Amino acid sequence: MNLKRRFISSNVPKPRTQSLPSFDRKMPLFLEIGCGVGFHPLQFSKQNPKHQMIAIEQTTNKFSKFYKRYLNHQCPENLYPFHDNAVHFITHLIKKETIHKYFILYPNPNPKKSDQNKRWHAMPFMGKLLETMVPGGIIEFATNESFYAEECYEWMTNVWELEALEYKTIPHNFPPRTHFEKKYLKREQKCFNLTFKKPS
Ligand SMILES: C[S@@+](CC[C@H](N)C(=O)[O-])C[C@H]1O[C@@H](n2cnc3c(N)ncnc32)[C@H](O)[C@@H]1O
Repeated sequence: MNLKRRFISSNVPKPRTQSLPSFDRKMPLFLEIGCGVGFHPLQFSKQNPKHQMIAIEQTTNKFSKFYKRYLNHQCPENLYPFHDNAVHFITHLIKKETIHKYFILYPNPNPKKSDQNKRWHAMPFMGKLLETMVPGGIIEFATNESFYAEECYEWMTNVWELEALEYKTIPHNFPPRTHFEKKYLKREQKCFNLTFKKPS
C-alpha cells in the first residue's frame, strides 16, 4: 500500500516571515519545528557555536517567552528565532538540500486515530521537508507517547525510507533539553528519542 500522498506546495498559505537572512554557507544549518519557549535552541546555539539554528514556534505566547529569553541571552548570532507556522515557512522559504538536521521534540501527538494525518511523520508535508534536507541529513524526534514513537519509526523507515540511527528511551536523570522533556522526566514518564538519516 502506498501511504505517501501528494503534497501540493501551491495550496500552502504563505508564511508570515517575508524573507530569510543570509546564512553562513560554511556552517551547517539546523532547524527546530515547534520549539515552544525555546530552551533547546538556546542551549543548542551556545553549545554548538559552529552550527546555525533556525527555531520556529507558531503559538504567540510561547514565542514571546522564547524571544524574551533570546534577548536575555544576548541574541546568539547563530540562532534565528521565527514566529511562524513551520509548514508554511519550510514550504515557501527553505530551499532543497539546505538543512543538515531537523528537530521535532515533543510534538502534539494528536492521538485520535482519525488525526493520523496531523502527526508529522504521516503528513504529506514530510515529503517536502525531506527534500529540504541535505543527503545524509538527520531528523530527530522525541515523544513521551509510545504509540507515537512506534508509528513514527514505521513511517520514517518504511514509507519515507530513511535509515534508523537510534530508537531509545531517555534515562530519567538525563539533563532535560526542553520544557516538556523536563516535565515528563520529572514525572518518571518514558520518553523516546528517535533519529533517522536521509540516504546520501
Ligand atoms: C507539545 S509542545 C512542545 C514544545 C517544545 N518542543 C518542548 O518540548 O518543550 C509542541 C509545540 O509545537 C508547536 N507547533 C505545533 N505545530 C506547529 C507548526 N506547524 N509550526 C510551528 N510550531 C508548531 C506548538 O505551538 C507547541 O508549542
